[in-house]
Parts: sequence; C-alpha cells; structure tokens
Amino acid sequence: MALAIKAEGIVKTFRSGWWHRKVKEVLKGIDLQVEEGEIFGILGPNGAGKTTLLSIFSTLLLPDKGSIKILGIDALQDGHRIRERVNISSGNANFVWSLTVLENLRFYAMLYGLSGKRRETKIESLIDLFGLKEHLEVPFDRLSTGLKQRLSLAKSLLNDPTLLFLDEPTVGLDPGVSIRIRDQIHATQKANRMTILLTTHNMKEAESLCHRIAFLREGKILAVGTPEDLKRVVRVGDLIRIQFEGSISGEELLRMEGVINYSISNGFCEIMVDDAERRAGPLAAILSNGGARIKNLTLEQTDLEDVFVEFSKSAGSDRGLCV
Ligand SMILES: Nc1ncnc2c1ncn2[C@@H]1O[C@H](COP(=O)(O)OP(=O)(O)OP(=O)(O)O)[C@@H](O)[C@H]1O
Ligand SMILES: [Mg+2]
Repeated sequence: MALAIKAEGIVKTFRSGWWHRKVKEVLKGIDLQVEEGEIFGILGPNGAGKTTLLSIFSTLLLPDKGSIKILGIDALQDGHRIRERVNISSGNANFVWSLTVLENLRFYAMLYGLSGKRRETKIESLIDLFGLKEHLEVPFDRLSTGLKQRLSLAKSLLNDPTLLFLDEPTVGLDPGVSIRIRDQIHATQKANRMTILLTTHNMKEAESLCHRIAFLREGKILAVGTPEDLKRVVRVGDLIRIQFEGSISGEELLRMEGVINYSISNGFCEIMVDDAERRAGPLAAILSNGGARIKNLTLEQTDLEDVFVEFSKSAGSDRGLCV
C-alpha cells in the first residue's frame, strides 16, 4: 500500500512572550505513516498539538526538525506541488466575512484555477452535497456555526484533493448536524477514494469515522492502530452483567475463553471479557447448563475514551506504541 503521509521525527517549537524568550516544544518527535485511501484520525485533548501537526502536513507551517513526504513529495522542498493536490477544512473556518456563500465558493474556485462552466458545475455539485442551496446569498458572517462548517467542507473539495485535512470537522455542532457531516465525509471519501486525515477530541467521532487512529498527548504519539486493536491491546475489557438465580462457579468462569475477571454477589455477576458481543451468547449457554437461571443480561462495551485514559496513564515512555 502506498503512503499518503510519511513523517519522521517532527519537532515544532513555538516562541512567545517578551523577546520571544518563552519556548514551548509543541511536537516532540512525531513519526507517522498514513496509507492512501485511509480515514486516519489524530485524537487528543486540547493543546495536544493536533492543529499544529495538521498545519505542518498541509504545508501551512514548517517544522523545526524532521522529514515529511506527502503523496510521495518532499513537503519541505516542494510545498507548492503538494498544495495543488491537498486541501484543508477547519472548524474555525476563515472566509471573507462580507462575501456570501456563493461568492466565497467562486472566490476559492478561482484561486484553485477553476473557471467558466467547469467552475460552476463543480460549485453546483458541492452546494447540493452540503445542502447550501437556500443559503447562497447569505454573507459569511451571518451563517450559523453548522453552515460555516458545511461551507468550509465544500470549499475544501473544490480542487478534488487527493488528500484532505479536516481540523475538528464537527466542533461546536449539535449532534444531528454532526451526524450529517460525518455521513457526508464518509460518502465523499468513498466516492472519491481520497485519503482523509482528521483531528478531533471526540472519541465517538474517531471511532465512527476512522480506519486508524493515533492518540496524541503533549506533542507525543502514545499509540497508533485501528479502534479495535487499540481496545484489545489495553485490555480495558467489556462488561457482561448478569442477574441470576441458582449458582455460578467462579472457577468455571475463568476457564472460559475471553474471560479476564469476574465478581459474584447476591444474585448478580459481573464478568469482564475481551469482547462482550462475541462472548455473551456462549457464556450464557454454559452458565445455564451449569445450573444458573439467567433473569437479565446486559452488555457494556469499552469505548475509546477508556482506552485513551489507559494509554495516558502509561505515557511515561518516549516511544509510541504501534498496534
Ligand atoms: N502560533 C503559536 N504560537 C505560540 N503557541 C502556539 C501557537 N500555535 C499553537 N500554540 C500552542 O501549541 C500548543 C498546541 O496547540 P494546537 O492548537 O496544535 O493544539 P490542539 O491539539 O489543536 O488543541 P485544540 O484541541 O484546542 O484545538 C498549545 O499549547 C498552543 O497554545
Ligand atoms: Mg486544534
């Protein structure tokens, strides 16, 4: 599989304060590989360095150290060649405030070298995709946050990018609009087979959208993998909760495949397993055969939030974990 992004040893420091004397190392040696056609998520808390990393990958910012290849092109030497083939949409979209939605789209289309019929056809298809038709004459500064976000996404697809960067695509949006935007991201990625690198601090968003995820904290990558792999590796465990009559043998439970731990008291049993959905059926059958009458059974699955907390606890080591 070809790589859309190959980054090694990225370091970025910002200076601020009097005489630029305050120095802050924001990225502390990032190694990352993103495959072509992936939706890859950079997940991390506020201030982790997500936007800084995205700005470097999209050639808006230079790193202090490190090497970066974007679509096989050296980002430090040939930024202009990369800019033709990538685009970026940001949660804090910055457009010409006094121009309307349509004027802004035409303005950016012109910057990307589109003109005449080609420009109008492209703009029309994006207006349809992001439901902007009724808002075409509204100036940017009067748009709601959700509409600004949709305009930003539409703008980011004007040049049919091979690689798309999305910085917090659903930040500040209500759940309904967020779901719609995620669906649009999914559909666009599938239709155009582009690579998407997105940042978010929303674990659910990362889990629903991304093929692979990198956890970023304090400028370091803690782990990289698919959501499933990351969950498996930390063994936070899913919970199966059973209300029962009769008896359950703890020893028997521990012999069952996938069981990590258990507790039994007063007709309630909590069993920690690697994968609740897979283990619940066989487990219930074995317990029933062993003399328990199951009155109620519920599943509680680990989410990425738990996994991130676990990785953060063991974040002492300098090198990230790749799973
Ligand atoms: N131009 C700048 N000058 C000085 N410090 C900066 C600059 N840009 C970012 N920083 C600092 O770098 C750190 C990382 O910022 P960054 O915006 O990359 O984080 P983030 O993970 O995107 O956070 P958020 O979730 O809030 O968007 C922060 O401490 C921020 O204050
Ligand atoms: Mg940010």
